[in-house]
Amino acid sequence: MKQKRILRLTAVVFAVVFVAGITGLYAGTNVPDDIKMENKIYSKHTKGIATLSHKKHAEDYKIGCGECHHDEKGKKLTNLKAGDAVKSCAECHSKPGQAPKGADAPKLSKKEKIQQYHAESVHANCIDCHKDVKKKDKSKNAPTTCKECHPKKGK
Ligand code: HEC
Ligand code: HEC
Ligand code: HEC
Ligand code: HEC
Repeated sequence: MKQKRILRLTAVVFAVVFVAGITGLYAGTNVPDDIKMENKIYSKHTKGIATLSHKKHAEDYKIGCGECHHDEKGKKLTNLKAGDAVKSCAECHSKPGQAPKGADAPKLSKKEKIQQYHAESVHANCIDCHKDVKKKDKSKNAPTTCKECHPKKGK
């Protein structure tokens, strides 16, 4: 009798540990390892879709979450954990594409362009860091040219 109860108890403990393990795993895989940067604010992408190796950037390259994610004031979100909800860059940097160029384009400072236009904000984040990385060590694979990030369309 007693042995049966112990068995049942053991089964319950195992079940709890198992379920907790699964949900833990699930929370950890909320963010895809590689994010296809194909934001829905674009009705059409003019460039091939860039991929961000999100997991590699955070784990292998050891870049803090706050280097890319910040709050509505631009303050770094340094305490983010896997599974936390995160706002898309486009919720704040909400105009699609890059700031218009040319004589009749509105005159905007670099800061204003970044604040308003999605591609400007993403480029400033990704490319500025990659330039710094390359400056320190030319052998690093941190892409700075268009075609390294944007594959030929249709691929
Ligand atoms: C190199 C820059 C970078 C780093 C470092 C980084 N992220 Fe991200 N993360 C992004 C970008 C870009 C997106 C896509 C945002 C978008 O769609 O606008 C994203 C998306 C996410 C999402 C949402 C995924 C989805 O599909 O909705 C979560 C959650 C997230 N990141 C959490 C984190 C956490 C936690 C860390 C630190 C462990 C981290 N990120 C580190 C750039 C980064
Ligand atoms: C909740 C709103 C919000 C979200 C989400 C957001 N940003 Fe920002 N971001 C801001 C604000 C506000 C500023 C301006 C801060 C300032 O000028 O002091 C800013 C500034 C920036 C800058 C300029 C920083 C500098 O130091 O010059 C870059 C680059 C940038 N954001 C990229 C991103 C990227 C990439 C994402 C997504 C991973 C993102 N932002 C998500 C609100 C946001
Ligand atoms: C704060 C610094 C930083 C930011 C921000 C950053 N990266 Fe990187 N990135 C790196 C480093 C470091 C490497 C790896 C260099 C090496 O070790 O060879 C890298 C490598 C890459 C590579 C080539 C290798 C791979 O893992 O695929 C791609 C593509 C890339 N980054 C895309 C992006 C994109 C897209 C963004 C913006 C959404 C971004 N990165 C933002 C630092 C950064
Ligand atoms: C470090 C990687 C990286 C480099 C280098 C880069 N881009 Fe981007 N670019 C991105 C990402 C990521 C987005 C955001 C796409 C999204 O989230 O939908 C983007 C968005 C864009 C967009 C708006 C979306 C579209 O397809 O119409 C244009 C236009 C663009 N880039 C042009 C360029 C040009 C031109 C260059 C070279 C001068 C360049 N990019 C270099 C990563 C990069």
